[in-house]
Amino acid sequence: MAKLSIADLTIDDARAELAELAAKLNAANVAYHGKDAPSISDAEFDALKRRNAEIEQRFPDLIRADSPSKQIGAPVQDGFTKVTHAQRMMSLGNAFNDEDVSDFDQSIRKYLGLADSAPLAFTAEPKIDGLSLSLRYESGQLVQAATRGDGAVGEGVLANAKTITDIPQEIANAPDILEVRGEVYMSHEDFAFLNARQTERGGKTFANPRNAAAGSLRQLDSEITKSRPLKFFAYAWGEISEPLAQTQFLAIARLKEFGFQTNPFTKRIQTTAELIAHYRAIEQDRADLGYDIDGVVYKVDDLSYQSRLGFRATTPRWAIAHKFPAELAWTHLEAIDIQVGRTGALSPVARLTPITVGGVVVSNATLHNEDYIEGRDSNGAPIREGRDIRVGDWVQIYRAGDVIPKIRDVDLSKRPKESVPFEFPSLCPECDSPAVREEGDAIRRCTGGLTCPAQAVEKLKHFVSRGAFDIDGLGAKQIEMFYHDKGLSIREPADIFTLKQRDAAQLTKLKNREGWGAKSAEKLFDAIDARRNIGFGRVLYALGLRHVGAQSAALIARHYGSWTAFVDAMDEAKDPTNAAWNTLLSIDGVGEVMANSLIAAFQNEAERASITRLSDELTIEDAEQPDTDSPVAGKIVVFTGTLEKMTRAEAKARAESLGAKVSGSVSAKTDILVAGLGAGSKAKKALELGVQTMDEDTWLSLIEAL
Ligand code: IVH
Repeated sequence: MAKLSIADLTIDDARAELAELAAKLNAANVAYHGKDAPSISDAEFDALKRRNAEIEQRFPDLIRADSPSKQIGAPVQDGFTKVTHAQRMMSLGNAFNDEDVSDFDQSIRKYLGLADSAPLAFTAEPKIDGLSLSLRYESGQLVQAATRGDGAVGEGVLANAKTITDIPQEIANAPDILEVRGEVYMSHEDFAFLNARQTERGGKTFANPRNAAAGSLRQLDSEITKSRPLKFFAYAWGEISEPLAQTQFLAIARLKEFGFQTNPFTKRIQTTAELIAHYRAIEQDRADLGYDIDGVVYKVDDLSYQSRLGFRATTPRWAIAHKFPAELAWTHLEAIDIQVGRTGALSPVARLTPITVGGVVVSNATLHNEDYIEGRDSNGAPIREGRDIRVGDWVQIYRAGDVIPKIRDVDLSKRPKESVPFEFPSLCPECDSPAVREEGDAIRRCTGGLTCPAQAVEKLKHFVSRGAFDIDGLGAKQIEMFYHDKGLSIREPADIFTLKQRDAAQLTKLKNREGWGAKSAEKLFDAIDARRNIGFGRVLYALGLRHVGAQSAALIARHYGSWTAFVDAMDEAKDPTNAAWNTLLSIDGVGEVMANSLIAAFQNEAERASITRLSDELTIEDAEQPDTDSPVAGKIVVFTGTLEKMTRAEAKARAESLGAKVSGSVSAKTDILVAGLGAGSKAKKALELGVQTMDEDTWLSLIEAL
């Protein structure tokens, strides 16, 4: 629904929207701070928070007890000791543009009664994207470490903090009581290394360095924290028994003397124009810092001014965070690689100097197709005013939601002199077959079919993916390994099902190979066997035919009922005068393009033979007929919170294909609420209304039992 402008809101609209915003923001806070698993992007969070503040400003009487404007972070999670901060750990107000920065300067002058011409110095320093930590020293000894929590009470993480080398455990010549505050973070390099190690060990990988840092610090076992490469910058303080200095800048210098790391880009600044210049300079260097920052923090330098200015509910009046525009960033295009997909499409991929965009480290971006690189759209009209993209260029990256990062623009003023236009290959880089572009197709495709190793591998990866055969222990990595294996190769889907039998006839058995053992090999064979009985819709989807997605496959399966009826129909439908052709087109969602793709696959001799070899290995179950026998048929289902195993769109499509109705809000009519991570107000409402609530796994087992 389009949002009303603030001026047009009635009091009822405002009340309803504030309730909705409180629910959304509180759930997002729990996901982000409590679970280290953000449910919405930072930009979206900021936008919701701003809207909330604007409505509250117009309707101050409607400010809720649980208003997001009164809250910092999220309460302490179970398992940690609670630490009450001697002084609350605050959040920061945000500035999003230059005007917000001069408003900040003006409001301080007004508060302090300073004339526009009076000197007012600030410090400006990067806003580190990690998590804040408060360290308490008594007589120079580190005695307490606590996360921010909800600002008043944090989580005690002393043992964990002691494993971080940037954090001194003892300080000489320190005030009796000294609380040092700063940010725990992880560098890009360490983050990449940690994720690679986690992948190798089959552990959890992290979406971005912030989550990795938070997840690593908030461990109940400090040995785990110790193995994680965490760093710390000190930038503030809490309780102190004597003042550190007279200015922010000098106080930070003292923290440095005490042995803390302080940010080298911290600068003392006299005017707002200079603040903005420093902000731009830091923004320019952002890609090369080696760690994530999401803005620049300005603080009033004079500490006596700071104490006069004091705090609002959750933020100091004397500091503000000037945020970088979210989800856009500039970086270097290091190379353009061509990837060959399962349908032969040659996709250009930009290899980038890693940069964080919208909270995620991006090192690859799609370049769509050759026209896009050349600066034209599919109709030949110029894009980026016709600017082409070249290796070596300085490019702007953007990310919207979960979408794959894209390159939006290129800065010609930074183009290296020796650069040349990118030449798109006319041969498949994987198998050297001609790569051709058909009339009206924006994509160039490899003509090698299954003889092209890249197509074959990608098809196999798709075959074992979650919505398809979903074989435990046989993922993309194992497919790569088996594809290239000499003795025990998997070149086509049927080979998966002959693996055990071929292994039995081998001298070097799978269980004796590196990375495998008797147990894991046995487990794999069992998992494969478990999939010999499988539904028709899944098999069809798993084939990975062009234009045939999971939902269409399910609809087609439901229409024909049995696999054999379907295969016969494909043979008949190749003749467009045969009634079978019209029947195929009558299926919901099947158009001519998909119909042709299906028929072509079953007519292609090699492909047909490969499909037959597969079906010979399987017992393909008839497709369930809609509605009647699905336990969720006719039920009204609501999804809430962050789903981990499927996207919202996927969840909705699958539920609907089983005859359920998916709704966006919980009411007395709701039959089932599927609550993902961070489920908030909807789960509460469901409880009140006695609506059956289940987690994602329970839901999956319910629908997958079909
Ligand atoms: S000063 C009373 N300085 O940003 C204000 N905070 O959005 C104390 N942060 O909770 C904070 N870099 O976790 C400050 N250079 C910096 C920072 C910084 C990152 C974080 C900190 C704070 C959050 C507020």
